Amino acid sequence: MCKYHQTKSTMKLSETKLDTNQLSNRSSLKSNTPKRSDSCKLSYRNSVKSLKSNSNKDGGILHQIPDLDVPYMEINKEYDILKNIAEGCFAKIYLVHHRPIKTNVVLKAIHTELTSFKEFIKEFHYSYQLSHHPNILSSYNVAFQSNDYFVFAQEYAPYGDLAANLGPGGLHESSVKSIASQLSSALGFMHSKSLVHRDIKLENVLVFALDFSRVKLCDFGATTKEGTLVAKIKHTWKNFLPPEVIESVKHERFICRTSADSWQFGIMLYSLLTGNVPWRKADWVNDAKYAAFKKYEERKTTKIPENFSKFSPRFLRAFRKILCHNTEDRAKVTEVMKYMKDKWMDSKITTSKSTGNILGQAASDQDSICVYLNNRESKNSLDENKTRLRRLMSTYCLETSLDQNVVKKRIWEWILSCEEGHGDDVEGY
Ligand SMILES: Nc1ncnc2c1ncn2[C@@H]1O[C@H](COP(=O)(O)OP(=O)(O)OP(=O)(O)O)[C@@H](O)[C@H]1O
Ligand SMILES: [Mg+2]
Repeated sequence: MCKYHQTKSTMKLSETKLDTNQLSNRSSLKSNTPKRSDSCKLSYRNSVKSLKSNSNKDGGILHQIPDLDVPYMEINKEYDILKNIAEGCFAKIYLVHHRPIKTNVVLKAIHTELTSFKEFIKEFHYSYQLSHHPNILSSYNVAFQSNDYFVFAQEYAPYGDLAANLGPGGLHESSVKSIASQLSSALGFMHSKSLVHRDIKLENVLVFALDFSRVKLCDFGATTKEGTLVAKIKHTWKNFLPPEVIESVKHERFICRTSADSWQFGIMLYSLLTGNVPWRKADWVNDAKYAAFKKYEERKTTKIPENFSKFSPRFLRAFRKILCHNTEDRAKVTEVMKYMKDKWMDSKITTSKSTGNILGQAASDQDSICVYLNNRESKNSLDENKTRLRRLMSTYCLETSLDQNVVKKRIWEWILSCEEGHGDDVEGY
């Protein structure tokens, strides 16, 4: 059991991984208005009445966003900031040490000018409620308000996000399959509760194992109940937006559907396999690459678009379904599981992906590489380079954890062996 959970709230770690049925057995919250308080404890769980088993198929009570009493506390009262992990469009992400219980956690601090209290509670609510799933980032039962920020706590992902782990050549097919099945499970779970993530992108998938055997979906800031009228998300990559969102009239709201997540999941698979995005914008009038794919997807031509020629015929079928222009016919995220036993890349076309991102072969269709990866590069290049180095080392079975005692011991062993070897060398002369 995690001490952090015990002390900071009434919740235990084991409870964050309840089975999915239990998820719907929570919610129905008391109405409170935000106010300042000395304590940072947020008794979210206590404000959740236990629920009857008659929640509807839609996820029912999961969609009742509580009005919580979020206390006031300065971050430095209990936490030491160890590292500024990232600055997203809305939030600052800090790795912090919680002094009272000597535990490191991540704090997501969202500036009060960039979100409303209601929006913050909604993100916290979904982040916390969805934590049960093994491929969804665990959020803790801790939230507070500090000067200009609304803050909540999450577990730490040691290897950053997928964007930081992806190079120009893409990842191994086996790694992509592993990521795909984990995300298909996480998104399938959300969709079964009628929730749409709405911002599936490489930066919103965090890496917990260097071989990608454990990845988790994060950032539920845009998560919405299916069928709700929503506005376009402003701060996201255009290349990941589905055509129906691109086509939506500016300033006009549209109905949010799980099919939008399927589309973004499809773009993510393409990006992971190639290191590129397939087009700048899913706008068939202005983007020739998308126009070519749409024609192929709608079977108006048998000509495989050049940037899709590296995929196997079977996986092209999957792309046609998941990147289907028509939202009604678009495949669900879980459909990818039907393709796990197939080859995804065309074996005749070989690309060097042995080390994923560093030695990956430069993409042939450079002009289609959107500013996307370049932007990412400049954003967090230092951390990314560190992660890439760790990945490269791990590919060659080199240990990457830095236990200083082990390092010292090895250096001493190495010095001693050099001295022994030196004698041999001298003899050889
Ligand atoms: N728990 C965590 N552990 C490690 N890194 C994290 C964690 N949470 C977030 N990050 C990093 O911080 C970045 C921003 O986090 P997040 O997506 O939650 O913020 P945001 O401001 O809502 O993002 P966006 O820019 O997508 O709107 C992520 O892309 C990831 O690189
Ligand atoms: Mg994000």
